[in-house]
Amino acid sequence: MVSMDNADRELLARRFRVLGRHSPLFYEEPLHLVRGEGVWVWDADGRRYLDVYNNVPHVGHCHPRVVEAIARQAATLNTHTRYLHDNVVNYAERLTAKFDPSLSMAMFACTGSEANEVALRMARHHTGGQGIIVTDFAYHGNTEAVSELGTGFMPEAKTTHRVRSFPVPDSYNGLPGVAPAELADAYANAVKSAIDAFEADGIGFAGLLICPAFTNEGLVNVPDGFFARALAHVRAAGGLYIADEVQGGFGRTGRHWWSHQWHTEVPDIVTLGKPMGNGHPISAVVARADLVDEFGEWGMYFNTFGGNPVSCAAALAVLDVLEEERLPENAVSTGAYVAERLRQLQGKHSLIGEVRDRGLFFAVELVRDRASKTPATAEAARLVNDMRGQGVLISRIGRHDNVLKMRPPMPFNRENADQLLATLGDCLDRL
Ligand SMILES: Cc1ncc(COP(=O)(O)O)c(C=O)c1O
Repeated sequence: MVSMDNADRELLARRFRVLGRHSPLFYEEPLHLVRGEGVWVWDADGRRYLDVYNNVPHVGHCHPRVVEAIARQAATLNTHTRYLHDNVVNYAERLTAKFDPSLSMAMFACTGSEANEVALRMARHHTGGQGIIVTDFAYHGNTEAVSELGTGFMPEAKTTHRVRSFPVPDSYNGLPGVAPAELADAYANAVKSAIDAFEADGIGFAGLLICPAFTNEGLVNVPDGFFARALAHVRAAGGLYIADEVQGGFGRTGRHWWSHQWHTEVPDIVTLGKPMGNGHPISAVVARADLVDEFGEWGMYFNTFGGNPVSCAAALAVLDVLEEERLPENAVSTGAYVAERLRQLQGKHSLIGEVRDRGLFFAVELVRDRASKTPATAEAARLVNDMRGQGVLISRIGRHDNVLKMRPPMPFNRENADQLLATLGDCLDRL
């Protein structure tokens, strides 16, 4: 058990006074971080932690290439995209080259929420429909329109008529009374029912907006055939496929640069954020050229900070590091190593119901009993706090907060993996 010192208690009290008690903090005893480097962070007492949680410092905390690129551009010029500048064009060219050729244009913003907001406006404008379909445990950001998509956490999602949900397509938990072989159809039919309901309401259908790796939903394994069938319904109804790659993009899932590439259907719009600037706020909408042109003709899109020269310098440096240090390749090899070791732990601990992995993204669903799959929520909370006590940072997600979530900076190596697995094994033994 960790206990805060007086200085941290005072900082927490001051924070409560000015940010309020509802500004979320991790851990039973909040952690006061002051420095980072690579996969490591240090607290105010100089204690070092292995960061197995933060995906925003994608190429590593304070990567010198990114720091230098930001500093150099900040010392030269920072304006906005209404002047010609090489950085935004160079970056947009390099970024769109990583996508299917149909996704050839980019627009810039500062947060994932804003990118999703633009994607919603674009899809609603293009289709003339208002209805958006998301999963029933979704989070896509915090603006007013995007909050309506937040079936997992946001009150707005319960009140809107222009958003409908379908059950998270989860082959482990399934649907009551549906045989495993029927699951893909059942989930796809739920998408079709939502489309029909929008038509019946007179709202019209605009599109399906999902994180293709279902990261906030618990990185679930999707029943084979779901994507093809669900997206066939979406296309037949004239809707768009919007892929939220805010968490799953930039090589995180290993084998592919984008998590939607794990299935063959190509999105019409993709949104990006979090890891894009390694912590510098930059986000993007990458879309079909006809959609970007049509949206631009309809009304001007301008974002004061989105795509500015400093942000694009940071984002360009992130691409350089990902490519030169072959970090997506590392996500494949180190990711497979971690996944194998997690499955060994599953063999030893009945608490581990399912291990799910995509590159350097891991979800470990904890259950009290493998037959009933009763969520082991308290145990997950205990483990996250115990691991922090032993110098390893992870978190938890899912409808019942019983899924351990691990998503380290991309330079995470085998030695780091050994420390993670040894600590997790130890904490499980002592639970
Ligand atoms: C899948 C997904 N989309 C969008 C967002 C919103 O991004 P931001 O916090 O940068 O607005 C998040 C944030 O957690 C996210 O997980």
